[in-house]
Amino acid sequence: MADHEFEERFVSAEFTQQDNDIETSLRPRVMSEYIGQEKVKENLEIYIQAARQRGESLDHVLLYGPPGLGKTTLAGIIANEMNVNLRITSGPAIEKQGDLAALLTNLAEGDVLFIDEIHRLNRSVEEVLYPAMEDNALDIIIGKGPSARSIRLDLPKFTLVGATTRAGQLSAPLRDRFGIVEHLQMYTPEELSQIVTRSAGILNIDIERYGALEIAARSRGTPRIANRLLKRARDFAEVMGDGIITEETASLALSKMEIDNLGLDAVDRRLLTTMIRGYNGGPVGLETIAAAIGEEAVTIEDVYEPYLMQIGFLSRTPRGRMVTPAVYEHLGLTPPAAKGNAQQQSLF
Ligand code: ADE
Repeated sequence: MADHEFEERFVSAEFTQQDNDIETSLRPRVMSEYIGQEKVKENLEIYIQAARQRGESLDHVLLYGPPGLGKTTLAGIIANEMNVNLRITSGPAIEKQGDLAALLTNLAEGDVLFIDEIHRLNRSVEEVLYPAMEDNALDIIIGKGPSARSIRLDLPKFTLVGATTRAGQLSAPLRDRFGIVEHLQMYTPEELSQIVTRSAGILNIDIERYGALEIAARSRGTPRIANRLLKRARDFAEVMGDGIITEETASLALSKMEIDNLGLDAVDRRLLTTMIRGYNGGPVGLETIAAAIGEEAVTIEDVYEPYLMQIGFLSRTPRGRMVTPAVYEHLGLTPPAAKGNAQQQSLF
């Protein structure tokens, strides 16, 4: 499976250490530098300005959407524009109630606490969060058994920014405690090309407009992927060309990385061909697909499916996942002769 590992490094939206270094330098620090997500930005700017005018901390914010769309970046911008510190952690990193209590008691007035993958917090930790979010209070149980009693500590006012790829997996009591809920959408190629051009400027990379658009079109709507592909395209441009990323060098780099003209990688193609060859294009259950291609069901759901659905290649039905007629054409496969109206229509 060397191929598949190679591919995954380039187009998965999962966060890596390398991304961490790149992202830190490329991350916009203020709202005016942040490209795309216009509606989210517009609303947040109002909420931030209003909170500042009232001299209050910002209400708790829940950001949801597929990975790599800029949730951490937005949390940083919120902290920056509110003039407070940003503390970053994640659901899986907070194992015990005490871990969260330590984080909360170390916050300064107004600070932003960012919890990534907040849907992965365990229930007992979540319970500490409720009074903290609602009453700025930390309830601590002292002792065990009949003599146990609870004391309440005051916490500074703070803003919790929670990020999740799946709002539906958040428990209702937690979801209800967020005063601001914003859904991040995939970026358009034009927005991604602006992001690529901005990043190229910061990294001192020479790139032409059509080079940026080529990278943008193949980045699955995701800035994290666009920035990663930009760096690889630079490598190809420096070694095989004159260092300038043109449409041709970008296209060459992407095809060498086996990323096709829609940004699909080997895993996407394997998923789609497995559904077609093994299951007649579906409907087929998520777990069955996962077992057939050797990926975890949650990875398919969070990382691969959102983009495939976005481009109209995959649909979720009550009976399972189905590929759409467009997939056959993209993969150069012949659609089944008579498999229902939708697929017949695609022949004309
Ligand atoms: N880098 C990554 N995401 C970005 C965004 N939305 N705007 C500007 N630069 C970015």
